[in-house]
Amino acid sequence: MNKNYLTIAIPKGRLGEESIEVLNKIGYAKSVNLDSRKLVFIDDEDQIQYLIVKSIDVMTYVNQGVADIGIVGKDNILEEELEVYELLDLSFGYCQFVIAGFRESSNRLQDEKLRVATKYPNMTAKYFKERNRKIEIIKLNGSVELAPLVGLSDVISDIVETGSTLKANGLEIIEKMYDLSAKLVSNRVSYRFKFERINHITKKLNQAMEDIDND
Ligand code: PRP
Repeated sequence: MNKNYLTIAIPKGRLGEESIEVLNKIGYAKSVNLDSRKLVFIDDEDQIQYLIVKSIDVMTYVNQGVADIGIVGKDNILEEELEVYELLDLSFGYCQFVIAGFRESSNRLQDEKLRVATKYPNMTAKYFKERNRKIEIIKLNGSVELAPLVGLSDVISDIVETGSTLKANGLEIIEKMYDLSAKLVSNRVSYRFKFERINHITKKLNQAMEDIDND
């Protein structure tokens, strides 16, 4: 790894392809191939290193300064509660963070000890605390929609994009919590010391977003 290069954390999964697409539009990340098992791509010409990381970990890489900037979902920003600068909304990765469950559970939301299964315990706890609602959080790492089906929880809090996972499991949105999308974030020290490069890429991405909006 070269410390003088600009290091960019790219999320795997849903946001990955769109991140590469938008970076390609501004002439970056041409060598990155998300289908390979490679985790580091180096562009010596532009002096950029790309790290391919699990989306939930982008915040850690950027907060620690291993990556100077990164692309990350707002859900991960809210969940990780780590200090970074949020530089730009990237106008993709739109989804909602919601409480979902069986339709009947909608009148149970005020119950003492509502059991909420989620991959996002911090974000969920904060949301309910701010509204003085008591809950019990059941932390899961995936497939949270299963929890109400088998009686592990009363409801779930999770991201919904197309709604097909909820639908396939007979669940519905009960309460909308947050609108989410992908963001460009920066390490705070990098932002000072690599300002010109970070500002340059932020401006180019911003321009690319405007061009897409005007198409
Ligand atoms: C996410 C999320 C939902 C689903 C929503 O999970 O946690 O389960 O996608 O998307 P949809 O509204 O388009 O159906 P992901 O696919 O990342 O898998 P996971 O459950 O293993 O985390």
